[in-house]
Amino acid sequence: MKETQALIQRVRRANSTHQRLDLSVDSSLLTLKAGQALLYRPDGDTLQPYLRDLWFPVDIDKDTLTIERPISEHYEPGSVIYLTGLIGKPFRFRRTLRNVLLVAHDTAPTPLLMPVNPLIRNQVSVTLLLLGDASAYETDHLPPEVEIIHGDGDFQWPARVTTVGWADQVFITVAPEAEIESFRRIWQLFTELRHDIPPSYLFGVFRPPFPCGVGACDACLVGTGKGAVRVCVEGPALDLTELKLQ
Ligand code: FES
Repeated sequence: MKETQALIQRVRRANSTHQRLDLSVDSSLLTLKAGQALLYRPDGDTLQPYLRDLWFPVDIDKDTLTIERPISEHYEPGSVIYLTGLIGKPFRFRRTLRNVLLVAHDTAPTPLLMPVNPLIRNQVSVTLLLLGDASAYETDHLPPEVEIIHGDGDFQWPARVTTVGWADQVFITVAPEAEIESFRRIWQLFTELRHDIPPSYLFGVFRPPFPCGVGACDACLVGTGKGAVRVCVEGPALDLTELKLQ
């Protein structure tokens, strides 16, 4: 893992709340897989005290990596930024997979979007469930094959049992400021809606602050049945059946 320079080639609007940045990046970042992330720093000042932002790419095409960011942030085409990666492990998709459920609760679904096109190309059905504040995320730029369902912040949406029972795997992103509490509620909800929750079925995408991003500082520890794990190494997606959420 190293920090490399990236050039912002293009900035375009994705919807009314988000923009997409096409980046020319170091070849070491082009092996990134869905679920892995990058740490972003805007300039060459390595002494600046702020934590680097966690960025989840939404696409890779040849030598261009595409990032999605809120429209409130400002980026200039032609400017250089600094990226460290790769952070974490790819999403652990099952080999035989027919239906995937992606869930965003009170946050944009950006960390979940990178696998959408590859899944559709592999004939996997994709449903995107937008709950609470996530409902404000407009989806016209997503492939038409993606089924979109809206629900409220209290985890209510139409035909919940069908949605949950139909999915072979579920990946969920929540607002980082309420991460553990939200995943706890999701665990309770899924245990109500399904008879059992098998391993490798329900994954939470964790986004705690990552001061180091390489497993060296213990700032991102999360408790599991086998002891604490570092999210920056074992995540960001963790199997909720393995966590201590109580
Ligand atoms: S951010 Fe330092 S161990 Fe994970």
